Amino acid sequence: MQVAIGNDHVAVELKRIIKEYLEEKGIKVADFGTNSPERFDYPLSGYRVGKAVALGEADLGILICGTGVGISLAANKVRGIRAVVCSEPYTARLSRQHNNTNILAFGARVVGSELAKMIVDAWLDAEFEGGRHQKRIDMIAEIADTQRLAVAEDDE
Ligand code: RB5
Repeated sequence: MQVAIGNDHVAVELKRIIKEYLEEKGIKVADFGTNSPERFDYPLSGYRVGKAVALGEADLGILICGTGVGISLAANKVRGIRAVVCSEPYTARLSRQHNNTNILAFGARVVGSELAKMIVDAWLDAEFEGGRHQKRIDMIAEIADTQRLAVAEDDE
């Protein structure tokens, strides 16, 4: 398994800890930076990691900024990306099982390193359940691809 990881200047240290944690588990990590404390615009990391996952260069992605919000918003603009922001493991697990998220985001100003590791474990250990959940994911993709949702227009 290969995980793409990216962050902004706020999250350099937490990214280093999580990267090391993943590597200890035998997971290959592609680091898209930043590794500098200089101000860094989070959309760039969100885009790079999103693209790596969408193109299949990485199986999954992890993004960290101050809150996890901005960087996940950027990644979610890449077609095929379903990024979730989590500050606890329950949502992380369910986001894989029901929403088939392919990027996990969290905030270095929100979670400590031990909680972040628990969130990462819950997310990586969970599997998409398919079935009724696939239809809903297809509906999300329809909105992104066409800016329409046929079933909604049928109702109007
Ligand atoms: C940077 O100050 C901060 O805005 C960024 O890390 C992130 O929290 C944005 O969502």
